[in-house]
Amino acid sequence: MSLPQRLKHLAIIMDGNGRWAERHQRRRIFGHVRGARTARSIIQYCSQLKLPVLSLFALSAENILRPKNEVKALTNLLEKVFVQHSHLLIQEQIKLNILGDLTVFSSKLKNLCKKLCEKTQNHQGLNLIVALNYSGRQEIVQAFKKVVKKIEKGSLQTKNINEKTLSSFFCSSFSPPPDLIIRSGGQMRLSNFYLWSSAYSELYFTETLWPDFNKKSMDQALQQFTHRQRRFGRL
Ligand code: FPP
Repeated sequence: MSLPQRLKHLAIIMDGNGRWAERHQRRRIFGHVRGARTARSIIQYCSQLKLPVLSLFALSAENILRPKNEVKALTNLLEKVFVQHSHLLIQEQIKLNILGDLTVFSSKLKNLCKKLCEKTQNHQGLNLIVALNYSGRQEIVQAFKKVVKKIEKGSLQTKNINEKTLSSFFCSSFSPPPDLIIRSGGQMRLSNFYLWSSAYSELYFTETLWPDFNKKSMDQALQQFTHRQRRFGRL
C-alpha cells in the first residue's frame, strides 16, 4: 500500500488492550504489553510509508484515574518502551514529541521523555507525537489561559483573536490537524483526544482490538481514507 497523498497526519486511539487480555485469560497489563508491540510495528510501518506525522493516544487524562496498580504498571511499561524504542527513533530518524501533563509521572519517565525529545528534534523522518495524560479539553483551557494573559498584558487585542491566532496557543499547534483518526477496539468516540484540531478529521473505527491491529488493518483504513471526499464543509 502506498501512502494516500492527502494524508499528512494520522492519529490513532489505541483501544482494546484490556479486552484483548481478558479474551486470552491474561492480566490487563499483558494486553498493554502486546499493545506496545503493535505500536512499535505501526510506527515502523508509518515511517516506511513516509508518513509526515503520526500521533498515538497512549494515555488519556482519564486513564490516569484507573486503579493505582494499573497506572503503575503502565508507567513502568512506558519507561521500558521509551528505552527500547530509542534505537528505532535513531535508526529511522524519527522525531519525537510528547503531549500532555507529565508532572504526574515518575522522574525516570519524565527524564526519558525529555531526553528523547531533545535528542531527536533535528530528525527529518516521521514526526511521532505521543499523547500521555493528555486531555483535549485541558489543551483548550490552557490555550484560553494563555490568550487571557496576553490580553491582560496588552500584547493581544480581542479583535485580533480568530481561529488561526487561537490555534497558535495550542500545545499541538506545531503539527497540522489530523487528516485521519483511527480508533481500534469497537468504541466510536474521540474520548477527549484532539478536540479542537479534529474538526474536519476523517474518522475510522474498527472492531479490531489494538494488540491485533496490524499492517493489513492499517491498509484497510488507508484504503477507506482514499475514497473519502473531503470537502471541509464546502461543495
Ligand atoms: C487502551 O486500552 C490503551 C491504553 C490505556 C494504553 C495504551 C498504551 C500502549 C499501547 C503503550 C504505548 C506505546 C507507545 C509506543 C507510546 P484499554 O485498557 O482501555 O482497553 P479496554 O478498553 O479493552 O479496557
